[in-house]
Parts: sequence; structure tokens; C-alpha cells
Amino acid sequence: MAELEMQALFEATGAARENAWINSLEQYRRMYSRSIEEPEIFWSELAESFFWYKKWEKVWDCNFDIAKKPIRIDWFLGAKTNLSVNCLDRHLESGRGDQSALIWQGNRPDEQRVLSFRELHREVCRFANGLKTAGVKRGDVVSVYLPTVPELAVAMLACARIGAIHNVVFSGYSAELLADRLVDSACRVLITADGAYRGKKPLPLKQNADKAIEICSKIHNHRVERCIVLRRAGLPVSTRPEIDIWWHELVRELPDRCEPERLDAADPLFILYASGSSDKPKGIQHVVGGYMVYTGVTFKHVFDYHDGDIFWCTADIGWVTGHSYAVYGPLTQGATSVLFEGGANFADPGRICEIIKTLGVTHLYTSPTVIRTLMKQGDEWVDKCDGGSLRILGTVGEPISPSTWRWFREHLGKANCPIVDTWWQTETGGVLIAPLPYAIAQKPGSVALPYFGVEPAILNDQGLELSGPAEGKLAIKRSWPGQMRSVYRDHQRFEESYFRVFPGYYFTGDGARRDADGYYWITGRIDDVITVSGHRLGTAEVESALLAHAAVTEAAVVGYPHDLKGQGICAFVVLKSGIEATNELQKQLILHVMDKVGSFAVLDKIRFTTGLPKTRSGKILRRILRKISSEYSDLAAASESVKGTGVEKPQSD
Ligand code: WTA
Repeated sequence: MAELEMQALFEATGAARENAWINSLEQYRRMYSRSIEEPEIFWSELAESFFWYKKWEKVWDCNFDIAKKPIRIDWFLGAKTNLSVNCLDRHLESGRGDQSALIWQGNRPDEQRVLSFRELHREVCRFANGLKTAGVKRGDVVSVYLPTVPELAVAMLACARIGAIHNVVFSGYSAELLADRLVDSACRVLITADGAYRGKKPLPLKQNADKAIEICSKIHNHRVERCIVLRRAGLPVSTRPEIDIWWHELVRELPDRCEPERLDAADPLFILYASGSSDKPKGIQHVVGGYMVYTGVTFKHVFDYHDGDIFWCTADIGWVTGHSYAVYGPLTQGATSVLFEGGANFADPGRICEIIKTLGVTHLYTSPTVIRTLMKQGDEWVDKCDGGSLRILGTVGEPISPSTWRWFREHLGKANCPIVDTWWQTETGGVLIAPLPYAIAQKPGSVALPYFGVEPAILNDQGLELSGPAEGKLAIKRSWPGQMRSVYRDHQRFEESYFRVFPGYYFTGDGARRDADGYYWITGRIDDVITVSGHRLGTAEVESALLAHAAVTEAAVVGYPHDLKGQGICAFVVLKSGIEATNELQKQLILHVMDKVGSFAVLDKIRFTTGLPKTRSGKILRRILRKISSEYSDLAAASESVKGTGVEKPQSD
């Protein structure tokens, strides 16, 4: 990175800065020191602003040391609360009942729904009663396979109200991946819709759900007992009275009051599956108390949220960003959250401008992929776009290049809005590293400094902590309240995945650099995870889909730099003998992977080869494949560089 980029500083000034919760570097430093030196007092004070049935006996008690197993993460010990009460009831009591909680923009421009806190409270209570009628009890897992519609938030909050554990599965995932998640979470109740809109065409969600339920019973001997179906797209669906029930019929005539469960702070709130290294996805498990406090306070501080702001997180609720900053974080603070069914993935500049303008959006939290897609469409539209209401811009999910950052600031933000580049993970629950917008000057491409209570470390390959400016592996030295507590039903996997490689640290799987000012720069994943358009994808998921194709005998998948998606997917495929590598087969494989994994898993490059480079013990040498796939613009050089690796010159692009 050019020295100049590392030094460029952007600092917000003016009235917004004066009113900010944290408005100077000194204030940040003071609070940060206190959060590290006196975590009990620091977190107690922040947690006081939430509603608790019973306060904690102890603030935290954690063990990060794998030598002294088990790994244990406990926050707000002995406390009792309910997250849906924190998101809804307490705002009714404080007079916010008529304020918009959710403003939903449908796929079609004329589809809009606004739910006030009072209306959302009623919907949540009614559906919580519906879940009880369907047999759901405290501690049960409920899977939710819905697009970004208000009912997805309603379903999550209803689970939170009765102490059921929600397991949201991104609606772009295939039936196979949904089935894996249903089986792994031992889930017996599924919520879905007849269809979902992504772009122009409705996706047949219920059909996928039916297929998943069938896979569960036929292959895994696991029975999904209930399927609650929301009418959304008007698609015809098959209904089996013993399993299926329409959402609207389930809630008909049910009361709109529902007594919340008094849950322990340590009770599970949700699981969300995330891809890791070459292994099956992990059920990342979060709990009620710590997650609530952490998403709430990070929402307030990182986005400097104030009453009256209109917050738009463009992420699909099916990913953690949507969980934490479209639903829970904003609602705990009584904020108005904008939900967009399109997920902004197809980045239609007209729609984005229109939503910002008509709703008076003050905060736009999106991903580098969306920004790059917008950039590609030229500057004209954006320069015409009335973004006058915008105050803060945010980005997440993948590294943002300084030039994309500058474009975002200059064109969308009209050079007036601070940019918060927020680094975090499904595992962390909320933002861990980001510039607080009015306290920490921003450098384009850097995620800046840690949030309160977060102690990052840069480690070398041997696990030695490096001080000062350094580059290496990013780990975290101590727990924070939003940290995941376990891998669902597999605590050992939690310990082994995150605490074994570097004993004493939580290992993030990311590489990072720290500059002379202590600013962090994320260099990307150093494991087998590919981040495609900000969506986390395990190489293993794509490889096993390829291996399920009749023509394929071996496959390896790697990510490579992609102009638009951040990372593209490159597959190296060995065909069964006698099968020819044709363009037709290539197309078939692309469709096959989309069908098996999900519509966003598009293979960008396929390389047919006669063998894969492996170590003596048979492990695929992905490092070599990565090199080949990223340097592929020069075919001759690439085939030269693969000599002796068993990989042949590609047959097509
Ligand atoms: C990457 C998304 C660079 C990183 C919230 C991390 C980022 C993974 C940033 C987690 C950022 C997230 N800059 N990289 N600001 N934010 N990442 O679990 O590699 O879907 O480990 O959570 O995204 O992805 P996940």
C-alpha cells in the first residue's frame, strides 16, 4: 500500500461532532483505557441502560486458555432479561409506541410497509403465541428460511420472546444446505414463504423447503414436524395438512399479548451457521444477555445513533450483519430500521437513491461489493442523487480498497459523511474494530482502532505477539460481551477451531497489519474461507457440490481477487476418465453448484486438469492453486508456473 494512503486522514467536524456520544480522540482513549483496566465497572455502566428482570451477580468470567479446558465465556452472570422486551415493550413504556420501528421496502417500488413499535409488538406477540400453538417451547430450535420481509424480524423477536432459539438460514441457500442446517441443529419447526423476490424473479422457497424436509427424513432420518408458510409471492405451493400451516391461519384469532419468558443472560438466543476452514459449517451460538448489550452499545457508538435517525443496513437479515444491525442493535436503541427486500445485492442506483431520499436515510451501512457495483455504473446518477439526509456511511464484510472508499465518501457522502469501516464476524456478534465516526480520524482502507473492551493482537506464525507496526495473524486477547459462546451441540469444535492454534487467544482466521498509529488494516482470510460479494463461503461446501456431479472425480476450490465481488470462485476440476471437458459441461457444473449451494455461489472460473497438486500426505496445496487462479490473466505464464504441479493449462476461461 502506498505510504500516502496509509497516512491520509479524514476527520469529521461541525455540529454533528459536537453532539456525538464520543467526540474526541481523548475521550475515546480515556474510555478505552477504562474498558481494559476496569471492565467490570465499564460494562456494568453500559448494561444499566437495558432492561433486566434481575441484575448480574458478576460481570464476566471467562477462560481463553485451552490448557485449562473448558473454554468458558460468561457475561452478566446470574442476570435475567428478555431481548424482545428490550426491543419492544420498553419503548412502548417510554412513549415510542407510534414511532416507526421497521420501514420495509419491497422488491416492487410500490410495496412499502411501516410497522410502529406498537404494531411490531403486537405482531411479535401474536406470532409468539402462534409458535406456542405449533408446539414450540423454550430451548427449542426454530429455523427460519425467509427473505428480508418484516415477518423475518417478527419471527426472530417472537422466538426471543418465548426463549426459543432461532436459526435463520439465508434464503439464497439451496435445499441441500438448508437440510444440513436443519439436521445439525436438530430442528423440528421451519418457517418459510411460498416464494421470495430477489431481483425480478420469485424464488420458489417453499419448494426448496419441501425438498429439504424430504432430504432430512430420507437421508438423515430426521423429521421436521411443522412448516409455517408465509404468503408472500403468491406462488402455488403443495400443502400437507400434517406438516404445513399458513402463517396467517396460525395466528388468526390469537391474542396480541404474550407474556415474555424471564431468560438467563446465558440462555441461547440464536444460532447462525457460518463457513469455516475445509469442514462443515458451524452453528455459531450467541446468548441473550451479552449479545443484547454488545449489539446495542456498538450500534449506538459506532454509528453515533441519535433519536430521529433513520438507519439503513442493506444486508440481508439472513447474515449476521442483518441480525445485529438491521434488527437487534437498532431495535434495542428504539431506532427506525429500514429493511430492503432486494438486499441491495443487485445495486440498482435508482432504487438506492430513491430510498435514501424518500425516507430521509441518515445512515447507510453497506458492503464494498455494493459500492463497487454502484461505482461501475458511472458517477452521473450518484451525483444527481439527493443524499442530503445522509450523515454517516458504513461498510462491512470484506476489505475496501482506498479508491472505493474515496468514491463512497465523495460521491455518495458528498464529502460530508464520516465512513465507519467496521471489522467483525458472525462469531463476534458485533463490531470489534472500527473508527468511531466523530472521535477517530479515518484512513481510507483501514478499520482503524478497537472498540471498547476489545484487545486485538498481531501474531506471527509461531504465535508470538508482535508489538508496534507489524503484519501477521489477527487474534483477540480477551473476551467481549458479544462473543459467541459455543458451536451448537459441539463445544469441543468451538475450542479446537478458535482457541487451539494460538493458545490464550481467540483466533479470527484473518490476517492484518498494524501501522505506526496503531491503526489496523485487514488483509483478508488466511484460511479456506472465500468471501464472495461479502458472503462467507467455505471451499468445502463448493467442493462437495462439485464432487456430487457424475462427471467429477476430484475438485478443489479457491478464491481469487475479483473486480466486483471482492473474491471470485475458481474451481479446479478433475473429470472421470473418458469424459471430455466441453463448454457445455462447464455450464452444467456452474448450474449444478448454484443448485446445490445457492444462487450466489457462481463459479467464475473452471480449470479442468488431470490432477491436483498435493502434499505427500494427500492434502491439496491450495496455496499453489490460489497463485495460479489469481495470476491467470497471463495464460502462458500460468501454465509455466503450474508445471510439475499436476495442473494443466486451462482449456477455457
Ligand atoms: C471479513 C460479517 C475487511 C473478514 C460481519 C471476517 C472484513 C469475515 C470486514 C467475517 C472489514 C468483515 N474489512 N474484512 N471491514 N468485515 N470482514 O462472519 O474476513 O460473514 O473474518 O461476518 O468477513 O464474515 P462474516
